[in-house]
Amino acid sequence: MTTNYSAFLYLISAVCFIFSLRGLSSPKTAIKGNLSGIAGMIIAVAATLSLPAVSSFGFIVAAVIAGGVIGLIIARRIAMTALPQLVAAFHSLVGLAAVLVAWASFSSPAAYGIGTSGHIALSSLIEMSLGVAVGAVTFSGSIIAFAKLQGILSGKPLRFRGQTLLNALIAAVIIVYIIHFAKTESTLSFLFLTLLSFILGFMLILPVGGADMPVVISMLNSYSGWAAAGIGFTLRNSLLVITGALVGSSGAILSYIMCKAMNRSIFNVLLGGIGQSGTNGSADETAKTANIGSAEDAAVLLENAQKVIIVPGYGMAVAQSQFALEEMAEMLKKKGIAIKYAIHPVAGRMPGHMNVLLAEAKIPYEDVFELDDINGEFADTDVVYIIGANDVTNPLAKTDSSSPIYGMPVLDVEKARNIIVVKRSLAGKGYAGVDNPVFYAPNTMMLLGDAKKVTEEINKFLK
Ligand code: TAP
Repeated sequence: MTTNYSAFLYLISAVCFIFSLRGLSSPKTAIKGNLSGIAGMIIAVAATLSLPAVSSFGFIVAAVIAGGVIGLIIARRIAMTALPQLVAAFHSLVGLAAVLVAWASFSSPAAYGIGTSGHIALSSLIEMSLGVAVGAVTFSGSIIAFAKLQGILSGKPLRFRGQTLLNALIAAVIIVYIIHFAKTESTLSFLFLTLLSFILGFMLILPVGGADMPVVISMLNSYSGWAAAGIGFTLRNSLLVITGALVGSSGAILSYIMCKAMNRSIFNVLLGGIGQSGTNGSADETAKTANIGSAEDAAVLLENAQKVIIVPGYGMAVAQSQFALEEMAEMLKKKGIAIKYAIHPVAGRMPGHMNVLLAEAKIPYEDVFELDDINGEFADTDVVYIIGANDVTNPLAKTDSSSPIYGMPVLDVEKARNIIVVKRSLAGKGYAGVDNPVFYAPNTMMLLGDAKKVTEEINKFLK
C-alpha cells in the first residue's frame, strides 16, 4: 500500500523519468537526461523501501548487492559493440520477472491483497494474464534476439509457409485462454496461456533476419515496458505502472520510427513477418573488380575536394576510429573543405549508435545530418568517405526486390563524384550478409584495413 509520503516521492521520481526521456532525445542534453533518470531511480527505490509493506530487508539488500555487483562487472567488461545483445538479454529478464510475479500472485493472492485462491478479483485476473502473456513473449523473443545478435543463431530469417497465419492463430488462442482464465481462474488455462506466449515470442523473432533486427530491438524494448507496467498493476505499485508505460510507449514510438526508417509495416512487425525472405542479392557479377587504393591516394583525393561527406557505420564502432576521424575532418576543414556527416537511422547496431560515437569524439552536432536531410546532397559532393558502413549504403536496397534489404531507404552514396570505402576486406559483408555494388563501382577507391589504422595513415599524409 502506498502512503501519502511515498506517493509524493513516486510522483517526483515519475517526473524525473519524464525529464530523463526528454533529455535523452538529444546528444546535447543526454547527460542531464541520464542524471535525471538516476535521481528518479534512487528516489523510487528509497520510497519503495520505506513502504509499510516492506517488513524485512535481508533478501532485498542481498538482491540489490548481488544485482549491483553483476551489473557493475558487466558494465565494465562489455564492449560498446556488444551493447545491443546486452540490451536484449536485459529485456528478457524484465519479461521473466513479469511472468514470475504474475505466477507468484496467482499462487498466493492473499499476500498481494487481490483476494483468496478461487476468489481472485476479476480485474486482477485480467491484469495477471495480460502481464504473463506480454512477459513471456518478451522473455522468449529477447532470448532469440540475443542469440541472433551474439551470432549463436544465424542472422538469416527462419521462415516457412503460413508462418504469419500461424502466429496470428497462436495469438488468437492466447486471447481465448485469457478470457477463459479470467472467467474460471483455471490453473490449466493460466499454464497454457504462459506456454503459448513463450512459443509466440520464439515464433515472432525467428523469422526476422537481415537488416531488420533494429525494429525487433525497439519492439522488445516496448514489450518489456508493458511487461513492467503489468507487474506494477499486480504489485499495486503506481510508479512501476507509470515507468512501464513510459518505456512501453517510448519503445512503441521508436519502433514506429524504425519501421519508417526500414520501410517496414508495423503490422508485419507485430505478427513476426518482417523483411523479405529473398536471396543474398549480389552485386553485378560482371563488374566485380575493385580499385584498391592507398592511404596516400585517399589523402590526395580528400585534399583536392571542396565538399566531403563522411558516412560512418558499424566498422567505425568496432575500430573505435571516431577520434582519428575527427582529427582527419578538422585537418580538412582547416584546408577550407566543407565536411558533413551522414547518419543512417540504423547505422551500427543500436539506435543512435553513430551519434553517440561522434559526440564522444566531440564532432560538432551541426555537422551531423540525418538521412532525409542529406540524401539530396550526394550528387553535389566531391568525395564520400565511407568508414565501416556497408548495408546502409547499398543501392541494391532500391533495385533488387529479392534482396533482404529491399525497400530499406539507404544513403545515395553512389551519386557522389568519388567514393572512398574503408573496410578490412573485400569479402567481409555487412550485417544483412549482402554484397554491395558500390565497392566495385568505377568511381570507388577501396582502402582495405582497420578503420582506425587506415584513417590514422591518411592523417599522417594530410599533416
Ligand atoms: P554493416 O552493414 O554491418 O557493415 C559494417 C562493415 O564494417 C562491414 O562491411 C565490415 O567489413 C566493416 N568493418 C567491421 N569491422 C571493421 C574495422 N575494424 N575496420 C573497418 N571496417 C570494419 O554496418 P552498417 O552499414 O552500419 O549497417 C548496420 C546494419 O546493422 C544494418 O543492416 C542494420 O539493419 C543492422 N542492425 C542495426 C541495428 C541498429 S538499431 N542500428 C541493430 C541491429 C542490426 P569488413 O568485415 O570487411 O571489415
